Amino acid sequence: MRILSNFLMDVCGLKGDWSMEAYADIAVRQIREQVGDGTVLLGLSGGVDSAVAAALLYRAIGGRLTCVYVDHGFMRAGESDQVVDIFTKTFPVELVHVNAADRFFADLKGVTDPETKRKIIGRDFVEVFKEEARKLGKRDHFAQGTIYPDVIESGKAKGSAVIKSHHNVGGLPAELGFESLVEPLRMLFKDEVRKLGLTLGLPESLVYRQPFPGPGLAIRVIGELTPDKVRIVRESDLILRQEMAAAGLSKSVSQYFTVLTGAHSVGVMGDERTYAYAVALRAVTTDDFMTADVAQLPYELLGKIATRIVGEVAGCNRVLYDITTKPPASIEWE
Ligand code: XMP
Repeated sequence: MRILSNFLMDVCGLKGDWSMEAYADIAVRQIREQVGDGTVLLGLSGGVDSAVAAALLYRAIGGRLTCVYVDHGFMRAGESDQVVDIFTKTFPVELVHVNAADRFFADLKGVTDPETKRKIIGRDFVEVFKEEARKLGKRDHFAQGTIYPDVIESGKAKGSAVIKSHHNVGGLPAELGFESLVEPLRMLFKDEVRKLGLTLGLPESLVYRQPFPGPGLAIRVIGELTPDKVRIVRESDLILRQEMAAAGLSKSVSQYFTVLTGAHSVGVMGDERTYAYAVALRAVTTDDFMTADVAQLPYELLGKIATRIVGEVAGCNRVLYDITTKPPASIEWE
């Protein structure tokens, strides 16, 4: 570390006064230069990157930023409310919150194949976003929270980056007639984006959100989606998150969530026979999400989580722990 810092300071002549606050000032200047006195439209996904991009843009151009948040109805408990709260109170931008859950559920009716589910969610997401952008009327520039790994993945140094999964709105700037694409995070890695988010005043609970797939809880319900099945995943996921936090494990375990397996099994509750769903717990440790180990959660903690889930989540009478590494399994089930 010392050798590296000597190299940077003495050989390359860098000053040691670099800070995230200074970086934010530079980024704000660059945004102002690019945008002039124009207006900007940004799609909030509910994830960290687009939220940090929005907070930075707000610092640069204030009320000339409009955000569209397409809520597909598959977010975790409390997450949509948190996003809406932050971007109406702390960063009071013009925020269009589109609650499109009914449309997504309607279009996913009868669909069981995971890839088809993902495609429908991706298509609907872009369509809803486009409809809202058109309703809003002209905005001059289009912003997105592309980060450096996205730029590398897309294999492009310039132009619009391919954004993962359903947030792939890369083709929209041209289609909707924007003057330019603003990507203020494209030189940053994830940990830097998080630090910038904290510097800008976003709460830790948002900045340190776990990776969350674009299609959200929809791919954590095996088989056909219904609002009730999504409720079971959402409620059990909240219990898991609460217990992981209480055990002090929420930062050391890379990703953890619950899955509604399609399996039903027999149980007893009080004097009653039950026939209800089995929920699986998934918790992994990983550096790059390309391979992953099963988190060695304490047995007592697993027991506590299982007891709470079967006791508190209607429709679930059994809890399983997924003890498969990646590979051969993937982290998500779908
Ligand atoms: P898998 O399941 O492929 O997941 O082992 C690796 C990591 O990627 C996340 N993931 C996604 N992220 N859009 C995303 O932005 C997606 O469609 C998607 N699918 C999986 C997954 O949660 C894990 O962190």
